[in-house]
Amino acid sequence: MSYLSEYQDSINNPDKYWQNHAEKIHWFKFPESILSKSKQGHYRWFEGGELNTCYLALDQHVLRGRGDQLALIYDSPVTNSKRSFTYNELLEQVSHFAGVLANLGIEKGDRVVIYMPMVPEAVIAMLASARLGAIHSVVFGGFASNELAIRIDDAKPKIIISSTCGIEFKNIIPYKPLLDAAIESALHKPDHTIILKRPQENCELIDGRDHDWEDCMSQASRHNIVPVKSTDPLYILYTSGTTGKPKGIVRDNGGHAVSLNYSMDAIYDISPGDVYWAASDVGWVVGHSYIVYAPLIRGCTTILFEGKPVRTPDPGSFWRVIEEYNVKTFFTAPTAFRAIKKEDADGKFIEKYNLSTLESVFLAGERLDPPTYKWLSDLLDCPVIDHWWQTETGWPICSNMLGTELKKIKMGSATVPVPGFDVQILNKHGRRVKSSETGSIVIKLPLPPGCLPTLWNDNERYESSYLSSFPGYYLTGDGGYIDNDGYVFVMGRTDDVINVAGHRLSTGEMEELIGSHRAVAECAVVGVADQLKGQVPAGFVVLKDGFSLQNEDLVTDLIMIIRNNIGAVANFKQIAILKRLPKTRSGKILRKSIRALADQGQTEIPSTIDDPTVIEEIKLVLKKLQIGMAFHN
Ligand code: COA
Ligand code: AMP
Repeated sequence: MSYLSEYQDSINNPDKYWQNHAEKIHWFKFPESILSKSKQGHYRWFEGGELNTCYLALDQHVLRGRGDQLALIYDSPVTNSKRSFTYNELLEQVSHFAGVLANLGIEKGDRVVIYMPMVPEAVIAMLASARLGAIHSVVFGGFASNELAIRIDDAKPKIIISSTCGIEFKNIIPYKPLLDAAIESALHKPDHTIILKRPQENCELIDGRDHDWEDCMSQASRHNIVPVKSTDPLYILYTSGTTGKPKGIVRDNGGHAVSLNYSMDAIYDISPGDVYWAASDVGWVVGHSYIVYAPLIRGCTTILFEGKPVRTPDPGSFWRVIEEYNVKTFFTAPTAFRAIKKEDADGKFIEKYNLSTLESVFLAGERLDPPTYKWLSDLLDCPVIDHWWQTETGWPICSNMLGTELKKIKMGSATVPVPGFDVQILNKHGRRVKSSETGSIVIKLPLPPGCLPTLWNDNERYESSYLSSFPGYYLTGDGGYIDNDGYVFVMGRTDDVINVAGHRLSTGEMEELIGSHRAVAECAVVGVADQLKGQVPAGFVVLKDGFSLQNEDLVTDLIMIIRNNIGAVANFKQIAILKRLPKTRSGKILRKSIRALADQGQTEIPSTIDDPTVIEEIKLVLKKLQIGMAFHN
């Protein structure tokens, strides 16, 4: 496959290009049109088509004789257990669980919230929801109950599926109290919950509302496929935006299936029967696309790993899994390799394992920093590939594509745009910049199949967040440049979104929460560089008169507000109390200057600043508290 001709075809004739790829999946009714526009003027893919994503992920493989092949391997060092499911077995479980959901009144279009750890039942619940044409919304298990409540109120699920606990390294995290608290505080109340009881933790069930997973399964019978329209939503996945309210990214069935199937071939060079492993979490988009849907639609064996790159039990856990299951393609976040590198800098654990089946390692979630790329590619015998994407797109925007002749890798670049994505760099006036000049990274419309068609219940926000800054273009929220060879360098967000250990979070939301404390007059939260986690949030707080740091509990209080409302994953541990924040004369907080001070120890003093002396004050505080990379030595 020639990358250039594929790419040009996809941009010059998207209808024909995606019709070809749509023909590669099974439709109950082939689409009447390939690319069309909705009443609101938004592009739509494959209108008039009918299919079912669960059918593509399971039934079709069983019908085609792949039933005895392993579909899902669950490997859980934190519980010291392993289970595996053939396509036959997974279909059996999923169609039974679809029967459970149907018994509890779930129908096409109903929402099903899934708040679960990395257990096979999470995958079963997702596929069962898809089987009925219901819309699932998986909430990452690391989120606190407040985040769950926000999602319950927005998605308005009829049912929530959860578990008694998650396990983080050796810690049991009880989920049921979090679930109960979320339902208590949400305005919307689900009719039912289904709780998977794990041996590590028990819980009380509320009569009439809560049901035990095993009991439900023993009473249900198999439920058949419910065909859905191509444009019907398969799932809603909430992701951080710039405010306290997360964005409900909608994923349709048809575009999603076509794009993921295409990506397995063109990007990952994966065939049916291959073993594909994404070490992520089902609560994130990588988990949706590349633990669950893409590998199964493609007929591969996928791995669900309930463990960490380190300390479960050692920095060899990834290599152990790759050897044990003959993994061909491995996908994770750079932060995971930085954690391994910290504990096994010489790669001694790599030497212990036979990695001969491993043909490629893909990374995403944040930019693959050159030191981590070098470390990894020196130790491994296969390509190490950075690729860039977002919850919104659901699959890679830029990548080195193994299914093409592309080979050249440039450190720090996510390589080139994937067919379908017309990536451009615009300056603030909306004009294209010269090559190697930095600007906003945008994608000329239409976006290819699989990308978000709207936000759940908020088309206005969809338009204002993504489409209105530069009419005719989708705003990615990332900044960067394209070099002379067309290689794209994604250098970081241009908004209030940060990426902490591969988890996407909003500093705007943190500011709203800290600002709600009675002692806080105003605050700024910025993401500062961190050697292990990529970025961590740091809070800069101005107290109201009458409050001071003499009150020792204040900093702890502020830390706990974020931990209790967003979750421990926010890694919010650093707070500096300032007399004032740096601002422009019109009152805008200069967050960029604070970040530059933390990361580089200096900043250009903006001409618009109202009081330049505040910069020196911040430098002193950052140094004293050792906040930011610049002040660590
Ligand atoms: N449920 C509950 N709590 C969770 C959680 C979950 N699913 N995930 C993380 N947490 C908690 C952790 O236990 C920790 O709590 P603590 O402050 O009490 O110790 C806190 O959130 C911070 O977690 P994290 O930032 O993940 O740090 P860590 O030291 O526990 O682990 C890594 C560091 C690098 C090993 C881990 O972040 C990792 O594997 N990251 C990769 C993420 C990823 O795959 N992202 C998907 C993109 S492809
Ligand atoms: P998420 O929606 O959680 O997948 O996060 C998407 C954001 O993560 C992007 O907008 C980028 O800021 C960042 N990101 C993901 N992958 C990469 C990458 N390969 N290079 C640079 N940034 C990345």
